Amino acid sequence: MASEIQEYQGASPDAVRQHYDVGTEFYRLWLDAGMTYSCALWAEGDDLDRAQRRKLDYLIAQARITGAERVLDIGCGWGSLARAIADRHPQAHITGLTLSRDQYDYARTHPADRIDIRLEHWNAHGPDRPYDAIFCVGALEHFVRFGLSRKERTDAYRAFLIHCHSILHPGGALVIQTIGKGNRPLGPDSLTDVQFLANEIFPESEPPRLAELAHAAEKLFEFRSLVNDRLDYARTCAEWLRRLRAQRVEAERIAGATVTQAYERYLEASIRQFEAEHLVLYRISLRKVAT
Ligand SMILES: C[S@@+](CC[C@H](N)C(=O)[O-])C[C@H]1O[C@@H](n2cnc3c(N)ncnc32)[C@H](O)[C@@H]1O
Repeated sequence: MASEIQEYQGASPDAVRQHYDVGTEFYRLWLDAGMTYSCALWAEGDDLDRAQRRKLDYLIAQARITGAERVLDIGCGWGSLARAIADRHPQAHITGLTLSRDQYDYARTHPADRIDIRLEHWNAHGPDRPYDAIFCVGALEHFVRFGLSRKERTDAYRAFLIHCHSILHPGGALVIQTIGKGNRPLGPDSLTDVQFLANEIFPESEPPRLAELAHAAEKLFEFRSLVNDRLDYARTCAEWLRRLRAQRVEAERIAGATVTQAYERYLEASIRQFEAEHLVLYRISLRKVAT
């Protein structure tokens, strides 16, 4: 397996920071109270806070955590999943990785026992003991650089999955939530949206195709479950957009008019692309197979 290890093919740390280091105060205006920045899981009557808590509960249940597990959260954002695991499992130890200084500072100043937040790239993370479960929520979208060939993308996901496999106990869970590319061909309007998102909002990043992930997981992980909740992401983006618009004056004061306009356009474009089946939202539960 060592021969498969290759140079990192994802977005550079600078490109990732460009998006997340717009400022915690800016994101606080329109994210939920827990500062979760990924698709929620909606049920009848939910508001954003409740739908985000429902999503965290769902993902935690997928990992089948029962007690004193060691857990890794790759791409931990402002730390909401780590805090949710610590709350629900009083003996679990959670390590969270982010590349964003703003997220790191925030997560470290909202400490909880048994949570260790690090400013660290996943491929530099070498724990002294294996984990029982790994989460990767809304981060895989950054692990392949825009414009690679299908083979290069599959190899890049395989490098990530090999790394996760190497730091998990046999039978351990890997729970991924990621945007994916849909199967409907893009028309000219959609192409404009997709290019805007790739160039202006998520530089150097590109979401996966399901076949690339399935191929990359061969002989490493079995698939336990996979759902596509793309309309949940359209609804999450619509709620983020409504909240951002309601706070436009304050958002412009914090981040400037240009950034605020770009974020409104990004959320509008995302709603359109999830509704049009050009983008999908996968929640995937994997289990490490012994090799
Ligand atoms: C959209 S945010 C999701 C945050 C969080 N999981 C949530 O749901 O709120 C993506 C996260 O991935 C992190 N990230 C991106 N590339 C990374 C890498 N190579 N190594 C570690 N973290 C990375 C970013 O710093 C950010 O915290």
